[in-house]
This record gives sequence, C-alpha cells and structure tokens, in this order.
Amino acid sequence: MESRNESRVSNFNEGRLPDSKAGVTSPGRADEIRLLFVGDIVGKPGVDVTCKAIPVLREQHELDLVVVNGENAENGSGITKAIFNRLRDHGVDGVTLGDHIYRKREIIPILESDAPVIRPANYPPEAPGREWMTLITTSGVPFCVVSLIGRVFMKPADCPFHAADRIWSQLPKKRGGVLVDFHAEATSDKQLLGRYLDGRASAVLGTHTHVTTADEQILPSGTAFQCDVGMTGPHDGIIGRRYDRVMETTFTQRPTSFNVAKGDNRLSGTLVVVDSRTHKAVSIERVKVNEDAPQGS
Ligand SMILES: [Fe+2]
Ligand SMILES: [Fe+2]
Repeated sequence: MESRNESRVSNFNEGRLPDSKAGVTSPGRADEIRLLFVGDIVGKPGVDVTCKAIPVLREQHELDLVVVNGENAENGSGITKAIFNRLRDHGVDGVTLGDHIYRKREIIPILESDAPVIRPANYPPEAPGREWMTLITTSGVPFCVVSLIGRVFMKPADCPFHAADRIWSQLPKKRGGVLVDFHAEATSDKQLLGRYLDGRASAVLGTHTHVTTADEQILPSGTAFQCDVGMTGPHDGIIGRRYDRVMETTFTQRPTSFNVAKGDNRLSGTLVVVDSRTHKAVSIERVKVNEDAPQGS
C-alpha cells in the first residue's frame, strides 16, 4: 500500500522543455551544466531531507552544481554555522539566504568570509556578506550565483533591478552561467525581474513564498525562470509552521511561537541544464522528493 507521502509526491519530469526549442541546440554532456537549486530549507526536517536526498540526486541527475536557499534552516529562522557545514558536507556547493539572513548572528562571520554563502545584493552596502559568489562545477567551470530580494510586501531594500545592473559588470567574464535567486513575495515582481535579466542570467528562480509554482519555462532569450521553487521541509503545516499556532494567532491576535511543523517532509527543487558555451538554459524541470523516497521518484 502506498504511504501518504508517496501518493502525494511526484517528479515532474514531464515538465522538461524540448531541447529542440527554436534557437536552442542541445549541448553535449561536456558543455552542459546540470544545476539543482533547492527552495527554502525549513528547520531540522528540511535540513534532514536535504542531506539525505542531495547525494542521491547528485548521482541520479548527474548534477554539476547544487545551490540551496537556507534562510529558514535553523528552527525556521536563519542558519547556523553547524547547519551550513552539514549542508556542505552532504553535497551542497553554495547557499543563498533571504529576509531571515541575520536571525542567527553566528552566521555573520561566515558571511564575511569567502565561504560559499551570500546575502541579497540589494541590501545596504553596510550589511554583512558578499553580493555574489563564484562556484566551481564538478567539471571545473566557474558559475556565478547572485541573490536579490523583492520590495513588494517585504521590508525596504534597494532596487533589485539596479543592483543587478551594478553587480553584473563585476562578475567574472569567464563563467559558465549565472543563477539568480530572487527572494520575493509577488509573482509579478518575479516575472518582471525574469524578463529584465532574460538573456543575461542562465536562470532566475524565485524563493520566499514556500509554495512551488507551476510556471517553469525558458524565456525568449534563454533564461530559465520559475516564480517559486517551493519549500524544503514539512508540508503538513502552514508554509512549514504548525497549523494550530498560526491559527491561534490569527483568531486571537495573541503572538505565539510558530514552531516548525512535522510530517509530509519534502525537498522542493528545480533542475536547470545550462549550455556553458552560450550561458543559456536548455531545459528546466521541477524535482520533488519526499523523505522516504530520496531517489526522487
Ligand atoms: Fe523562507
Ligand atoms: Fe523569506
């Protein structure tokens, strides 16, 4: 008999766009970069499923690069040094964050080092952390990662569009591509940044809402795009938190601790194949894994 999780979770391989798309030729394996980006990791369940699944997914999908958003990894808010190191030890190449970035202050010295973790590039210049990072794929190709944060229904930040322009000129010319994590609330905001960077970024993938959107696509000039990759952690709750706590605060207005939920623990990721010669995407597909089936089936 199928478990509850198995019946709910699927791998969206049918979402792969054909390699014969006009103007796009399929690169040979030597020229392709297979990039997995994992959406907001929530609490210990999210860290556990990530660490269990990534080594398997690396092999199953022949991944060249794995980047995760870890802004909710420590009990729902922020990330610690121990979690960062644990993710790195389990096959994660780089970490992006978001509005919860500084909740655990111990991460600040790591953000200020050359460790593969970055802050949103449109935070004020005084904010701790680097604005972009270069990771090296398994075949030795430099690949850049940029983090930007939205301004709609979010705390004030500088303009993400101008920030993108500013740092684009700083990125090393010798690179296989660029991944942009757009940590934002509004789908319209995310679509606009996707269009703004179409042809410049290899992928613009959204995070922050914790809900996977079914709009993965390759934009006209070759940028892979998706409004939100979704959440990695317990789905039996309200975007990763216990129903009862969220309900209590909603109905009584009394603040409660929004403890991390339990159950239906899944990894939500998106796999983008990039042609390292053109820096453009040739395919994009959603990848969902539940904790009991880390093989990604
Ligand atoms: Fe988040
Ligand atoms: Fe967030």
